[in-house]
Amino acid sequence: MSQHFDVVVIGAGPGGYIAAIRAAQLGFKTACIDDFIGKDGKPALGGTCLNVGCIPSKALLQSSENLHALEHDFAEHGIKVGKASFDAKQMIARKDGIVTKLTGGIGFLFKKNKVESLHGKGSLKAQNNGKWQIEVTKGKQKDLIEATHVIVATGSRPRPLPLVTIDNKNVLDNEGALNLTAVPKRLGVIGSGVIGLEMGSVWKRLGSEVTILEAMPTFMAAADQQIAKEAFKTLTKDTGLIIQLNTKIKEITNGKTVKVTYEVDAKEHTLEVDKLIVAIGRTPNTEGLGAKEVGLAVDERGFITVNDLCQTNLPNVWAIGDVVRGPMLAHKASEEGVAVAERIAGQKPHVDFNSVPWVIYTSPEVAWVGKTEEQLKAEGIEYKKGTSSFAANGRALGLGQAQGTVKILACTKTDRILGVHMIGPMVSELISEAVVAIEFKASSEDLARIIHAHPSLSEVTHEAALAVDKRALHG
Ligand code: FAD
Ligand code: NAI
Repeated sequence: MSQHFDVVVIGAGPGGYIAAIRAAQLGFKTACIDDFIGKDGKPALGGTCLNVGCIPSKALLQSSENLHALEHDFAEHGIKVGKASFDAKQMIARKDGIVTKLTGGIGFLFKKNKVESLHGKGSLKAQNNGKWQIEVTKGKQKDLIEATHVIVATGSRPRPLPLVTIDNKNVLDNEGALNLTAVPKRLGVIGSGVIGLEMGSVWKRLGSEVTILEAMPTFMAAADQQIAKEAFKTLTKDTGLIIQLNTKIKEITNGKTVKVTYEVDAKEHTLEVDKLIVAIGRTPNTEGLGAKEVGLAVDERGFITVNDLCQTNLPNVWAIGDVVRGPMLAHKASEEGVAVAERIAGQKPHVDFNSVPWVIYTSPEVAWVGKTEEQLKAEGIEYKKGTSSFAANGRALGLGQAQGTVKILACTKTDRILGVHMIGPMVSELISEAVVAIEFKASSEDLARIIHAHPSLSEVTHEAALAVDKRALHG
């Protein structure tokens, strides 16, 4: 007889592993199936995020920022060093070490919480007497397990560009981009989305000439456009990225070098590079899941269809994270995972998409939460705004990173904060205060009346809140 679980989670990314842990904490007999194989050829938990996404990219970003600081910023502090040398293999080894530590940590958390970890590909087979049969395939071995509830958290993979094949030698997806062991002289990137900007920044700081080709005429279309414009200026002028918007890729040839033919305003151009990263978005993983066989509804773009509660069209089958609608972000996946486990337990949790923070880890960083000015205008919501700059902030000047802006948008009538947009040093951390404010339905006056430590970067948020009421003290 097949083993029975209360909850089986398919996928051990930040959506799935968190859902499994929370389900186990709530007393459910839980298993989590995952098929990811790490760089060392062994099963690795943590999904895209830990293995080939959030965590390794941030490790490389830090390494490249350190080299950049050593080469460009230390002299200003009176610190003089000879010519720096750089070992890309060591940087990649450090990144791999961080990945192994964290993916191994999930195995430990599974043991601690008594989550049964099953390696293999999970697919839905049938529902009999209210129990779901799930097949776990590992090589030639096929095992059948049974679950009352199934949480699908199979994540996403890079969206392919039909014109070119990813070989992860010359033409790279996120995995290849995170594993280059030498700095390419010329690097091309297709897509100025989050991966393109983060990976482009890494290799630019390490010495590549980086050209990014973007299809859209607008840069960072999802971000507030005042902040996006500032980001475009600093990323092109200061970081030195060449960003070409409004491009149409016509042809890509992969030989000794990679040649990209593209058009801008019907004029043809060619870009020749040593490596090319393709980062044009991601596609949900539903192949081999048995979706068609069991009648699991999937939309025209391949996302599993869910309602606000992450329920699919099938009884007791839930879906979360990148494989469903909404932002493809690790923290969104995890929040949905917690919420679904709690719903199975009969609780009434709530996930508010309006308070999901976004962060782009360029330098300076970009972060936001809530509505942009463009969204508020489109929705006809009257708002007032306050902005403040890092230029005169003592802590930012001390850090040597006095660049950027914080903008707060608040409702004209009620003063409730509707959106907070930031570009500047460590705004990935500063945005948390804004998330709390939005989640607690705070007014700009609430933020303005809170004491912020001095000297700290958070004083810029404070000043922006004061500026909403036109009473900035340093502006
Ligand atoms: P995933 O993390 O994709 O995990 C799904 C898991 O399920 C995988 O292990 C997969 O192999 C497995 N799986 C798939 N099908 C099956 C099956 N049938 N059976 C068994 N297992 C299966 N987000 C952020 O919030 N912050 C960041 O800084 C950030 N940086 C990123 C950088 C890069 C380069 C990339 C590519 C992504 C980044 N993301 C970031 C996005 C983030 O990685 C995803 O939003 C997040 O991983 C989604 O989590 P998930 O659990 O839905 O899916
Ligand atoms: P993305 O959706 O952020 O950006 C893709 C970009 O490629 C878009 O600007 C799009 O207009 C462009 N594009 C699409 N087709 C194109 C074409 N044919 N030619 C030129 N440009 C084209 O996707 P990306 O960067 O691949 O990242 C995937 C997801 O991973 C993101 O949506 C994000 O949610 C997540 N991520 C999050 C990070 C973070 O939170 N810091 C970091 C990296 C990724």
